[in-house]
Amino acid sequence: MASKPRWRSGLENAMALPENKGQMQYQLATVDTSGRPHVRTVGFSSIIEPAEHPHLPVLIGITDVRTPKVTDMRANPYVELCWFLTGSKDQFRISGPVRIIPSPHVESAAQGESTLALDKLSEQGFDWEKKRVAAFDSLPPFMRALWCKPPQGSTIGSYEVANEWLKTLSKSNQLESEEDKQNFELALRNFALLVIDPIHVDWVEAAASPQRRTKFMRNGEDWSEEFVVP
Ligand SMILES: Cc1cc2nc3c(=O)[nH]c(=O)nc-3n(C[C@H](O)[C@H](O)[C@H](O)COP(=O)(O)O)c2cc1C
Repeated sequence: MASKPRWRSGLENAMALPENKGQMQYQLATVDTSGRPHVRTVGFSSIIEPAEHPHLPVLIGITDVRTPKVTDMRANPYVELCWFLTGSKDQFRISGPVRIIPSPHVESAAQGESTLALDKLSEQGFDWEKKRVAAFDSLPPFMRALWCKPPQGSTIGSYEVANEWLKTLSKSNQLESEEDKQNFELALRNFALLVIDPIHVDWVEAAASPQRRTKFMRNGEDWSEEFVVP
C-alpha cells in the first residue's frame, strides 16, 4: 500500500503543534466566470482518504451553497488555498479540483468534475450525505444558526438587522418545536461540504535554517517532489 505523501504528514504534524493551536483557517482562491480571482477565509474541517489509499487525501471544508464562492467553483472547479501556520511558520499552498457536496434535496445537477480520490471514494460507496449531516451536527449551535441567515453578500439596510437573525440552532436529535425543525431543515438545505482533491502542493518551511521549499506533484496515483528556491 502506498504511504502518505510527505506534505500530508508535514501538514498534520504542523496542525498538531501547540504553537499552531486554533489556526484552522486558510485562504481559498477561486476564479469567477469573467476570469477574476476572489479569495476568502475558509475553515479546515478534516482530511479523509479512500480506504487503503493514504496517498489520496482530500480536504473537507464547509460552506453555504448560496455564496458566490460556490458559483465560482461550479463555473471553474479548480481552487488553490494558502494556509500559513504562524506558530511553526509553515506555509502550504494546495491546489486541485474541487467538488461541492450539497443537500440531495436542493441539487440534482452534476456535482463537479471527476477526480481520482473522489471517484475512488464513490467506488468504495462512501456516504457523502452521512458525512454532510454529521459535519453539520458537529458544529456549535451558534454556527449552525448561520445557515439560516440571508445569503452572504446580500444587501441589508443597517447592521442592526442582524439582531433579528437566529442566534442558535440545536442539533438534529435535540429539536423540540416545529419552528426549530423548520429552521434546521432550512439550514441543512443550505449547508454543503467543500472537498478539495490536492494535486499540487507547495510547502515552505520558513522557520528552517536555511529555509526549505518543496513542490509536490501528483501524477496518477504517484507523488513526486522537488526542492526549489524558497
Ligand atoms: C474567520 C472566518 C472563517 C470563515 N469560514 C468559512 C468557512 O468555513 N466556509 C465558508 O464558506 N465561509 C467562511 N467564511 C466566510 C467567507 O470567508 C466569506 O466571507 C463569505 O463566504 C463570503 O465570501 P464569498 O462572497 O466569496 O462567497 C469565514 C469567514 C471568516 C472571517
